[in-house]
Amino acid sequence: MNPDKKIEVSAAEEKRSMDPASFAGEAKDRDRIAGEGQTGISRRVGVLGAGTWGMALARMLANSGHQVCVWSALEQEIDELNATRRQRNLPDMIIPDVITFTKQIKEACEDKDIVLFAVPSPFVRTTARAAAPYLPMGQILVDVAKGIEADTLFTLSEVIEDELTKAGRRARIVALSGPTHAEEVAVDMPTTIVSASRDIEAARIVQDTFMNTCMRVYTNPDIRGVELCGALKNIIALASGALTGLGYGDNTRAALITRGMAEMTRLGRAMGCQEETFSGLAGMGDLIVTATSMHSRNNRTGILLGKGVPLDKAIEEVGMVVEGINALPAAKELSRRYQVEMPIVDAVDRVVHEGADVREAVYGLMMRDRKREW
Ligand SMILES: NC(=O)c1ccc[n+]([C@@H]2O[C@H](COP(=O)([O-])OP(=O)(O)OC[C@H]3O[C@@H](n4cnc5c(N)ncnc54)[C@H](O)[C@@H]3O)[C@@H](O)[C@H]2O)c1
Repeated sequence: MNPDKKIEVSAAEEKRSMDPASFAGEAKDRDRIAGEGQTGISRRVGVLGAGTWGMALARMLANSGHQVCVWSALEQEIDELNATRRQRNLPDMIIPDVITFTKQIKEACEDKDIVLFAVPSPFVRTTARAAAPYLPMGQILVDVAKGIEADTLFTLSEVIEDELTKAGRRARIVALSGPTHAEEVAVDMPTTIVSASRDIEAARIVQDTFMNTCMRVYTNPDIRGVELCGALKNIIALASGALTGLGYGDNTRAALITRGMAEMTRLGRAMGCQEETFSGLAGMGDLIVTATSMHSRNNRTGILLGKGVPLDKAIEEVGMVVEGINALPAAKELSRRYQVEMPIVDAVDRVVHEGADVREAVYGLMMRDRKREW
């Protein structure tokens, strides 16, 4: 660790903390310290997946002084990234020259302190299978994808663990999740995230690696709760968008978000997760950001559904992975298996899979039996 560097960062932070306007105002000061890591330790990080989140994190880590190598399954994507130094869905983000790209998954996995899984949920299993031969025993793996596998009901860290076990390997797995739009991380907006693992030392190493002047990382041992939140909140965000598409207002959205959190927490409790996780950053934090932001593909898809656009056209228009739709079958099955009522998940499922009318689905939620709040 370089003690001088740490003092320099602390002084700049102290100056900024005395001037609350400086985040938005003094660009010069902000640029000088943006993204600077806090430990001074440079780690070797392999990033699997070169989509918006993988590339926003790759840039952030490189700017914090880490050595980053990015792999994609799509060869033409690697060619494009190498040639343009731009991710096509984050056109304003310049990719630092120090980031290297590879078409060989081996290169992004071998001799790394951390390997990051940043592919959408449907590709996590195949990516873990392809990576497994090159991951040494005890490798720290970080999953940032959000979802639950439909046929196994595994969280994505469990999917990775399953593939590694089949290959005779064992890793230290961490889930990194929270209210974190790539579009905002790509321009160094202050953001928070949770590093979750039963292996608390691994969670701390990931905390140290990802923490910088723009990204604040908290640890949490409840990895199952964190991953459940990440998958379920996308379904609630689809519903929230649908309300906007129907022209409903803030009362309706606040009700949906709060009652959505109530059903997420009910399921989490039944599955043995920590209730506090659901009111934390990976739970309420991520639900708020996903259910209210135009950066959210789930929210945007919901808006189109609410406006009467058919599902396939809505997905086509959004143009990127819509994890809320991927998560629906597992959420329905978990609700059935743990006998937990999840009326909003049911309503979204009826709209998505049975073509139910969105306004009718809202009416159905409003006309449920009288209940006590909790
Ligand atoms: N975008 C965000 O702001 C954000 C934030 C937090 C978490 N996440 C989660 O991270 C995950 C990835 O999201 P994203 O926004 O980067 O998605 P994306 O749609 O931008 O990712 C697409 C990428 O997936 C990879 N890919 C495509 N086909 C593949 C295949 N067959 N095998 C392996 N990889 C393949 C490619 O690198 C492609 O660029 C999702 O689960 C998402 O919920 C995203």
